[in-house]
Amino acid sequence: MSASPRIVVENLSVAFGTGRARVEAVSGVSLAVPAGASFGLVGESGSGKSTVLRAICGLAPVTGGRILIDGEEIRGRRGREFAARVQMVFQDPYGSLHPRHTIDRILSEPLAIHGLGDRDRRVGQAMADVGLPASFRFRLPHQLSGGQRQRVAIARALILGPPILLLDEPTSALDVSIQAEVLNLLSRLRRERDLTLLFVSHDLAVVDHMCERALVLRGGRAIEELDAEALAQGRVESPYAAELVRAAEGFRRPAP
Ligand SMILES: Nc1ncnc2c1ncn2[C@@H]1O[C@H](COP(=O)(O)OP(=O)(O)O)[C@@H](O)[C@H]1O
Ligand SMILES: [Mg+2]
Repeated sequence: MSASPRIVVENLSVAFGTGRARVEAVSGVSLAVPAGASFGLVGESGSGKSTVLRAICGLAPVTGGRILIDGEEIRGRRGREFAARVQMVFQDPYGSLHPRHTIDRILSEPLAIHGLGDRDRRVGQAMADVGLPASFRFRLPHQLSGGQRQRVAIARALILGPPILLLDEPTSALDVSIQAEVLNLLSRLRRERDLTLLFVSHDLAVVDHMCERALVLRGGRAIEELDAEALAQGRVESPYAAELVRAAEGFRRPAP
């Protein structure tokens, strides 16, 4: 067993476009996530959170830095081996699920691509693992609620048994009452499977709930790294992080 962190991002930069249209979405961001940890990326909209996750998946134009998974630098097209180790869950489960594919087909596809047998049993198990009734198996995404669709997306991400999950605002599109259910599901799955999580949210309260450490991003730059104590007590140094703390407290405070 190597002691390298599961995920290392070293001095990552990402830029979209060229010339006057060039946008530096991420500039010199570094982070390390040990095996079994849950690490948060937090910042307002446009701060570069999704771009960091997309860069890890090979879906963003990296202009500098390195990405390592289990101590091994990854570059170029991400293949099957990467998909078996790292999976991503997106904010909008409706956009990420094919509208005309049944839940059965959506969950069977990764198994087929990876040449895994016993698909019937595996799909049934994956649905049970995320709390989806077996009767939903041949339904289409639009016949499910937002929370149920996000459970399908989580089941699909986990069906190959990857040790690493990248979560991009996985509950931000859901009703507040449903958010907690999905966060609790993710916490349980993390515990049961010893998952390593890189968890993106604009909401510091959610990151505090889900993560032991977090990096605050603003304008594509790392502003401040927060440990568990700083997260729990909202003890931050930068004015920007303090704003995020205030926003999260406002959210938690019951209406007068
Ligand atoms: N495909 C793209 N083309 C051009 N600009 C992009 C693209 N994706 C993201 N950006 C820009 O990069 C910056 C960071 O975006 P993003 O990573 O989506 O932020 P966040 O997830 O924190 O809201 C923003 O200024 C955004 O407009
Ligand atoms: Mg985003």
